[in-house]
Amino acid sequence: MQKPHIPLDELRRQVEACQACPLAGGRTQTVFGDGNPDARVLFIGEAPGKNEDLQGVPFVGKAGQNLNQLLEIAGLAREDVFIANVLKCRPPGNRDPRPEEIELCTPFLREQTRTINPEFIVTLGNFATKFVLKTEMGITRLHGTLQQAGRFKVFPIYHPAAAIYDHSKWVALENDFATLGELLRR
Ligand code: URA
Repeated sequence: MQKPHIPLDELRRQVEACQACPLAGGRTQTVFGDGNPDARVLFIGEAPGKNEDLQGVPFVGKAGQNLNQLLEIAGLAREDVFIANVLKCRPPGNRDPRPEEIELCTPFLREQTRTINPEFIVTLGNFATKFVLKTEMGITRLHGTLQQAGRFKVFPIYHPAAAIYDHSKWVALENDFATLGELLRR
């Protein structure tokens, strides 16, 4: 028999209480994730940045502004989707997540995914893509290609922050979000 899923409110309380790794000591607050609990699409980013740590909401800084514009291209609004991250606490100075942090934190993401039970998981950047697809293949090769992980359709996309300093990434992001819109209308 399948084990029952954990309600999102309960998971949020567990995340808020988490002291499993040293990132807990440096956070203003945890960033659980945000959006429609019955979303058809779950977006997974990397980790909270400075603004997210201050506000407790994912993707509210410059990368979030990019994401909001890109969602429109796919015909989506933030209220339609759920947005979460691999890590729930901000790494100092926005450094990359470490393997042991990912290992300790991702049971929360796994449970969020089971509870939300989306049709599509959109992985934003390398960390989310490698975690969800259990692959060493990088985002440069995988972005814009439809994959499968268990019962979930997985669509890897560049991280929206990648476009801040590299315009060619913005073009790829626009194309991939247009493709996502087509996949959702199929
Ligand atoms: N980058 C991420 O990966 N996640 C956020 O929430 C913000 C920026």
